[in-house]
Amino acid sequence: MAEDTIRNRRPPLTTTLPAPAPPSLSVDESDETDANISKGISVIDILRVLTGVLLLSVIFSWFVTDGESITWGYKPKYLRWNNLKNLFKPPLLLTDEQLLQYSGANPSLPIYIAINGSVFDVSASPQTYGPGGAYGFFSGRDASRAFVSGCFKEDLTWDLRGLEEMYITGDVREQDDKELSEISRLESSGENDSRVRYLKKRRDRRRKEAWGQVEKAISHWEKFFNNHEQYFYVGKVLHPDLSGTPVRELCKGDKKP
Ligand code: HEM
Repeated sequence: MAEDTIRNRRPPLTTTLPAPAPPSLSVDESDETDANISKGISVIDILRVLTGVLLLSVIFSWFVTDGESITWGYKPKYLRWNNLKNLFKPPLLLTDEQLLQYSGANPSLPIYIAINGSVFDVSASPQTYGPGGAYGFFSGRDASRAFVSGCFKEDLTWDLRGLEEMYITGDVREQDDKELSEISRLESSGENDSRVRYLKKRRDRRRKEAWGQVEKAISHWEKFFNNHEQYFYVGKVLHPDLSGTPVRELCKGDKKP
């Protein structure tokens, strides 16, 4: 009986316990996971994305520019063929007489122009710089002065001395002339040295400022030829020393091209 009771006894009610939480990650395992995440964006992946973007840009540029450019029309200076070739050549050093050979008169030679001693190959524009071209008078020489003054007959020379005078104009020129007369009056009478020194300093400063404008104009043209898509730098022209020769006057002639 006792055995029977035991056999028929209903099993005790069990309370359902929540499933045990998974064991938390040990420190080592979590490091491994971080490593896996960072492995997910590797350098190779970045390179892949960049290559993809580059490829898309090349394709779009090709279509948009009608097959003319894969770089949206931009040609980096040192990727231009002539500039690349020049990187491996020693720069030319010419005298003024040698430079004259490259005026375009001899069709077997390139056309060179020079500005501020730097020589550029402008053979790509024979209609402009060749014989009879609109600016053919610039070819085969360093005519820096004419580039600033616009005097294409009288100023075909590299001699820039005195050219700053062209930037002293109007009221400033009037004042400058007055000061010059005062200087010569005071000097001839031998009085007021300090006033003379003061006036001379003022006139020098004025010329320095004006010279800055000459330099700006020259640098504008140098940059123009240097950055031009089809022209390229080839070397230097060496000019004779001009010290001791008279400073040129400003031109009076025709300024039209
Ligand atoms: C300081 C005065 C000037 C200088 C130094 C100068 C210089 C030049 C140069 C070097 C070029 C050729 C650019 C190239 O290689 O593509 C040029 C082109 C040109 N310039 Fe002048 N210029 C001056 C004034 C003028 C004036 C006043 C006019 C108008 C009356 C003018 C009209 C032109 C024209 C129409 C072209 C294009 C010519 C062509 O592509 O064949 N320039 N200029």
